[in-house]
Amino acid sequence: MEIRIKIQRFDPERDEAPHWRQYQVGAQPMDRVLDVLHTVRWQHDGGLAFRRSCGHGICGSDAMEINGRNRLACKELVKSLRQPITVAPMRGFRVVKDLMVDMTAFFEKYRAVRPYLMTDDAPPEKERLQSPEQRERYDDTTKCILCGACTTACPSFWANGKFLGPAAIVQAHRFLMDSRDQGAEQRAGVLNDASGVWRCRTIFNCTDACPRGIQVTKAIGDVKKLLVARSASPDGPPARAQRAGGPPSA
Ligand code: SF4
Ligand code: FES
Repeated sequence: MEIRIKIQRFDPERDEAPHWRQYQVGAQPMDRVLDVLHTVRWQHDGGLAFRRSCGHGICGSDAMEINGRNRLACKELVKSLRQPITVAPMRGFRVVKDLMVDMTAFFEKYRAVRPYLMTDDAPPEKERLQSPEQRERYDDTTKCILCGACTTACPSFWANGKFLGPAAIVQAHRFLMDSRDQGAEQRAGVLNDASGVWRCRTIFNCTDACPRGIQVTKAIGDVKKLLVARSASPDGPPARAQRAGGPPSA
């Protein structure tokens, strides 16, 4: 089959502004947008720049705007897309070249929420126990591959690049909802900040964009509720076990 694909090109060393180039390439019925991008690079234009690594929806490196929606190029079958297929870099990040964007600020925000287990207790002899119900509370947000599709689909982020963004909040959720974690106090500052969760306007673009099917907007809502509960508690932050659904039964 023949595929028509329009790719947004921009080389900051040569171009004053981004522009579109259209290519017509041969493709197999089960080819994905990533395969077509490879064909363009290998057969038509060796200068085309884009990121990819695993090729199977795991590494998150090839998120881009495909026919106007943020998607992973390695997961989009070309036969199911309207032609010409349009491919552009994710919005809101500086373009390094063509489809490659600068994700430095994105990963700074990721680090700001401290995306790791924080505990005050001495390590137990064997392991920190957790019930299946407690594990279930953050199961959805463990699936995040940090592709950036949610954050760059968010109008609140487009309006204010300082906004923490859905991806960082998803990462905070993963640890805030973990019954073993004790880092809520340290994370509350950045989450409650003027650029934190309250900039979310519940638009749901993030949920639509997530290639892992994570309920991103719900996760942000959970974090908002947790912050409200912390500020409303007369005795200070609610106990860790209460937040996480009770102590482990094991
Ligand atoms: Fe990507 Fe989904 Fe994680 Fe956002 S929540 S960074 S869209 S995997
Ligand atoms: Fe790894 Fe697409 S190349 S997610």
